[in-house]
Amino acid sequence: MRKKILVTGGAGYIGSHTVFELYKVGYLPIIIDNLCNTTDQNLFGLNKILRTNIPFYKIDCSDLGQMQKFFKTHNDIYACIHFAGYKSVSESVENPKKYYDNNIGSTEVLLKCLEKSNFKNLIFSSSCTVYGMPDILPVNEKAPFKKAESPYGETKQKCEILINSSSCNSISLRYFNPIGSHNSGLIGDCSSDNASNLVPIVAEVACGIRDRLIVNGDDYDTKDGTCIRDYIHVQDLAVAHVKALNYLLENKVKEVFNVGTGNGLSVLDIINTFEKVNNLKVNYNFGPRRLGDIQEIYSDGDKIMNVLKWKVNKTINEALISAWNWQKSRK
Ligand SMILES: NC(=O)c1ccc[n+]([C@@H]2O[C@H](COP(=O)([O-])OP(=O)(O)OC[C@H]3O[C@@H](n4cnc5c(N)ncnc54)[C@H](O)[C@@H]3O)[C@@H](O)[C@H]2O)c1
Repeated sequence: MRKKILVTGGAGYIGSHTVFELYKVGYLPIIIDNLCNTTDQNLFGLNKILRTNIPFYKIDCSDLGQMQKFFKTHNDIYACIHFAGYKSVSESVENPKKYYDNNIGSTEVLLKCLEKSNFKNLIFSSSCTVYGMPDILPVNEKAPFKKAESPYGETKQKCEILINSSSCNSISLRYFNPIGSHNSGLIGDCSSDNASNLVPIVAEVACGIRDRLIVNGDDYDTKDGTCIRDYIHVQDLAVAHVKALNYLLENKVKEVFNVGTGNGLSVLDIINTFEKVNNLKVNYNFGPRRLGDIQEIYSDGDKIMNVLKWKVNKTINEALISAWNWQKSRK
């Protein structure tokens, strides 16, 4: 009998890839999503690849009444993976309240429900933004929370603190920069907001949806003046959730893990590699720095490799080819 795992935000980008991996290894993922930042395309895609109907509930996770009702009728949920939330650093700078309300609000509601449930197991989608601009690179999990550079980062810090002080067993996964798509081409990033992450914008420029990419800042103290990030294939990231879940169910811990490759790449590295592996040109020019962005961050991945036995399987080339394939399938 498959163990039921609640996946909030499971119709979104990282959630849908994780639902795929969960089902593949024998869990029964149950999706809650209010579709505020995705479409039903990933739900159709998942059902097609997996040849089943993944249970789906259109519910707003920050609505206590609806969530309590859900938990009442589903008292056999083994664990929850909480992806539901907004994710744009730049939008959070423009509209912080939207981020505080949804990201923190949904986590508070979920914790209330989980603490009363039979199984108090939670995996949380955190982010390397909790580190602010770290003093030491690569950054490891022992680095303190510094002042977050954006309200988005603040919400992730606040959620981790709330989770830590709850009675739930929990693992917070601090993602670096997820990119790429599933190799089926049937699930991917369906964000309904304007893409604000680099790779989706590069892909939109390449296919003519956007005229050009503005590279935000060419005067950072880095090898080519542009920001450095740690880009991780979303399929590798999804597998990290399954490893974390298995570990949580077995060991009943409170833990945090970085999920990155350990490799820092600049914005220009990404543009050049995207052009090379997909054999096309991307129009870009330099613009001012963007509020909320830090200069450089990449992961120290020792902990997740040693404890969860997780490792990177996909290359940056594979990630950028799959990102372009997804974009072409959406045209
Ligand atoms: N993509 C990234 O670069 C990145 C990096 C670090 C952390 N994260 C975190 O990972 C999680 C998933 O990110 P993603 O890239 O898959 O984003 P996404 O927008 O594709 O997925 C989030 C999903 O949550 C749903 N959602 C949002 N608020 C909801 C609510 N109140 N109730 C129900 N559903 C709701 C949206 O409709 C969407 O389908 C987010 O918490 C995000 O902050 C993402």
